[in-house]
Amino acid sequence: MLEVKGLSKFFGGLEAVSNIDMTVKAGEIFGLIGPNGAGKTTFFNLINGVIRPTRGRVIFEGQDITGKKPHSVAKKGIIRTFQANNIFPDFTVIENVSLSCHLKTGIGIFEASLHTPGSKKKEKDVLERSYEIIKHAGLESFTNTAANSLSHGHKRILGIANALAAEPKLLMLDEPLGGMNAEEVSETINLIRRLLDDGLTILLIEHNMRATMSLCDRIFVINFGKKIAEGNPAEVKENPEVIKAYLGAGQNA
Ligand SMILES: Nc1ncnc2c1ncn2[C@@H]1O[C@H](COP(=O)(O)OP(=O)(O)O)[C@@H](O)[C@H]1O
Ligand SMILES: [Mg+2]
Repeated sequence: MLEVKGLSKFFGGLEAVSNIDMTVKAGEIFGLIGPNGAGKTTFFNLINGVIRPTRGRVIFEGQDITGKKPHSVAKKGIIRTFQANNIFPDFTVIENVSLSCHLKTGIGIFEASLHTPGSKKKEKDVLERSYEIIKHAGLESFTNTAANSLSHGHKRILGIANALAAEPKLLMLDEPLGGMNAEEVSETINLIRRLLDDGLTILLIEHNMRATMSLCDRIFVINFGKKIAEGNPAEVKENPEVIKAYLGAGQNA
């Protein structure tokens, strides 16, 4: 589904992403891990068009999308969440998701506000779809809660719901479990499992090793922008390079 060839990004003299080859298959959950500053977020930014690669190619469903702008990458079905929250804090949960649906369908807030018969029907469809997404995400009891007043974990889950509103084929999650407590982590893991059951393909950046190991079909490890290992969770866990990278960074692998 996604094929990355020789992807590189230099920031001045720094090789943030260095000559990465990667293939993500349809329907799998693929983990991208590595110590802080390894280049994971930069890699996401290269795929979804926030920044342009210095070298290399990004192919999605057979089409070269290298250097395409974020909106056209999103249109093809690659949607990502951000390490910081991607929510509209002043809106309720249902407003957040329907706004994200509007951004996707291009109905536009202006048309919705005209209240023509056509726009009313579309508006109703959007609300129904939004509610389905909210239920699926497990946020049903917060439908009319302001995003601002959600717990940290539910804000992050709302960020995923907003991404789902854009109808991804490939969903890229940047540290979805960051800062969550144990209960929020297990809620989010269950949501990710439901999304996989739906047939979504997921590219996951995550620091929580236990969660990554239990969720992912395959894991790709980078350090200083370079690939150091790739394989199933068991293989990666025992890879000396991986252990060294994580111990070197003073983290718990
Ligand atoms: N826009 C930028 N300009 C210059 N350096 C950057 C930029 N974005 C990231 N970097 C650097 O690239 C490296 C990789 O960063 P990042 O992709 O955020 O790592 P990770 O997500 O794995 O923690 C870091 O050394 C970071 O400081
Ligand atoms: Mg990052």
